[in-house]
Amino acid sequence: AALNHLPLEQQPAVLNNPAPAAVLTILYGSQTGNGKTIAEQLLRQASAMGISAQLHSMADYSLKKLAKDQWLSLVISTHGEGEAPDDAELFYEQLFSKRAPQLKGLHFNVLALGDSSYEWFCQTGKEIDKRLSELGGDRFAERLDCDVDYETSAADWISSTLETVKPELAEANNIAPFPVAQPLDQSTVSQLASKEDPQTAELVTIQKITGRGSVKDTYHLELAINPERIQYQPGDSLGIWADNDPNQVAQLLALLNLTGEEVLTFKDTKENIRTLLLKHIEITQVSKPLIQWLAQAGGDELIQQAASDHQSFIQYVADRQLLDVLSAQQSLLPDDPGLLLQQLKGITPRLYSIASSQTVHEDEVHLTINLASPSQSGFHGLASGLLCNRLTEGDELQVYVEPNRHFKLPANEAQNIIMIGPGTGIAPFRSFIQQRHELQHTGKNWLFFGNPNFATDFLYQTEWLKWHDQDVLNHLNLAFSRDQEDKHYVQHEIQREGERLWQWLDQGAAIYVCGDANRMAKDVEQALLAIFIEHGQLDSTEAKNHLTHLKREQRYQKDVY
Ligand code: 2AM
Repeated sequence: AALNHLPLEQQPAVLNNPAPAAVLTILYGSQTGNGKTIAEQLLRQASAMGISAQLHSMADYSLKKLAKDQWLSLVISTHGEGEAPDDAELFYEQLFSKRAPQLKGLHFNVLALGDSSYEWFCQTGKEIDKRLSELGGDRFAERLDCDVDYETSAADWISSTLETVKPELAEANNIAPFPVAQPLDQSTVSQLASKEDPQTAELVTIQKITGRGSVKDTYHLELAINPERIQYQPGDSLGIWADNDPNQVAQLLALLNLTGEEVLTFKDTKENIRTLLLKHIEITQVSKPLIQWLAQAGGDELIQQAASDHQSFIQYVADRQLLDVLSAQQSLLPDDPGLLLQQLKGITPRLYSIASSQTVHEDEVHLTINLASPSQSGFHGLASGLLCNRLTEGDELQVYVEPNRHFKLPANEAQNIIMIGPGTGIAPFRSFIQQRHELQHTGKNWLFFGNPNFATDFLYQTEWLKWHDQDVLNHLNLAFSRDQEDKHYVQHEIQREGERLWQWLDQGAAIYVCGDANRMAKDVEQALLAIFIEHGQLDSTEAKNHLTHLKREQRYQKDVY
C-alpha cells in the first residue's frame, strides 16, 4: 500500500525495452487532477501495449529536456480566465520565452481540458499546441479540446494516440511492432479510493460556524472515513460525488411532461430518465452550449443576450439552474427529451480542500464549506446543497482524495510558513497547523485571515486563539472587510506587515495562498510584489523574477479556485 500511495510518476517507470531509443514522453499540467488522471491512463495503456513511455508533471520537466525528446503527448488544463494551471506555470513561461530552444524533431499532440462555460475555453492548450509547432515541432495529430465531461473523448484520444505512435516508436527502436495489448498488471492498481472507485464516508458532524446575521452560511463538517482507502496529506482535497436533489428532479420531470420511467441513453448509460437526472446529468450548473442551443431555437431576449457575450452569460447563470432556464423557455422544449439530453453534461465530482490533519484525526476528514445562495427556484449547488442542506448526521456519501503535490508543507520542519486564507480558504491551514502542532515542527507559523465581520465570521476563532496562546501560531493578522466603512482585505494587512514579511522571506519562509482565484489571489500577488520592491529594494522586473524564484523553490504555493 505504501508504494501504491506514491504518485504514479514517482513509482518505478515501466520501460518494456532495455534502453529504448525512442520513448513517448507524457506531460501533464493539471489544476484539479483530471489532466493527471488522463496522463496516467495514457501511461498505463502505453505500457500495456509495450510502448516505452515516461510520465512527468510539467512542474518537474524542463524545456531543455523536451528539446531532446522525439515523441510527446501533452495533457493540459486551463483555469481561471485562460490561465495555465499552477504546476505548468514555469514550463509555460519557458515555452513562451524568447530564449526557448527549437523543437525540431519533436512529434507531438495535445489534449486540452477546459470548461466551455468559460470565455477562454481550453486556452492554455490552444496556446501550447500552437507554440510547439512554432518552435519547429511536428504535430502528429490535431489537438483535442475536452469539456468538463471529458471521459469518453479522452479515452478515444488515448487509443488513437497510441495507435499512431506504436508503429513509429517500433520503427525508431528498430524492433518488430509490439504485440497487441496485454491485460494490466492488477498489482499496480491502487487500493486507495479514486474518482472512478470512490469510498463511502459517513457524515458524523455538521455545524454552522458563521453566526446569526452573517452574510455567509459557512459549515464545518466531519466525515468518518476508512483510513485504509482514504489517505491524505495537509493540502490535499476531498472529491465528492453527489446526486442531484430529488425535489428538483421531480420538478424537471413535471416540466418536461415525463413520468420518470422513460428509458433513455445519456452518454454510455441506458437508464430511466429519473435515475439519469438524479445520478448522471449535471442540472445545477448551466452550460454555454445549452444556452447557445436554446438561443438558436428561438429563446427569449435574455437567452439571446446570454448566448452573445460572456459577461451576460455569467450574469444569467449566476442564479439559474437547469430548472430555472427551462421553465422560462417552455415553448421551446422538444417533444423528444433525448434531444435535450444531448445538450447536457455529466455530473462531475466537486473538490474541497481538507481542513484536518490525518496525523491527528486518523479516520476523519473535516471540511469547511460555504453554502452559496440558492437559485431562483430555491435549489443550492450540487455538493454544497447535498452536504450542508440535504444530508443529516449518519448519512453516507461517496468520496476520494485528490492529492495536491503543489500545496504541501515544507519538507524542512524548521522552515517558517506564511498562510494567507480568507473565507473558506482557511481550510487547508487548519490542516497545516494541526499537523505541525502534532508533529512538533519547530518552524514558525503566520496566518492572514479575512471575512466580512468579526462578530459572525471569524471561522474557527477559538482554535486559532488557542494556538496563538500556545505559540503554535506565532502571528495572526485579521481583515474583517465590513467592520468599517472602507473595505479592509488580507492584502492590506500584508502590505502593513511588509517589513516583517520581507524578513521572513529573506530567512527562507514559504508563502501559501488559498481561496478566491479571480480577485483575492491576484491582489495578494500584487501586494507581495510591492513588498519586494519597497523592502527588498528590487525593481519591478527583479520583483517578478523573485516571485518566479520562490515558485521554483516551492516557497510560493497556491490553492485557488
Ligand atoms: P467582501 O465580501 O466584504 O468584499 C472572504 O470572502 C473575504 O474576502 C470577505 O471579507 C471578502 O470581502 C473578501 N474579499 C473580497 N474581495 C477581495 C479581494 N479582491 N481581495 C481580498 N479579499 C477580498
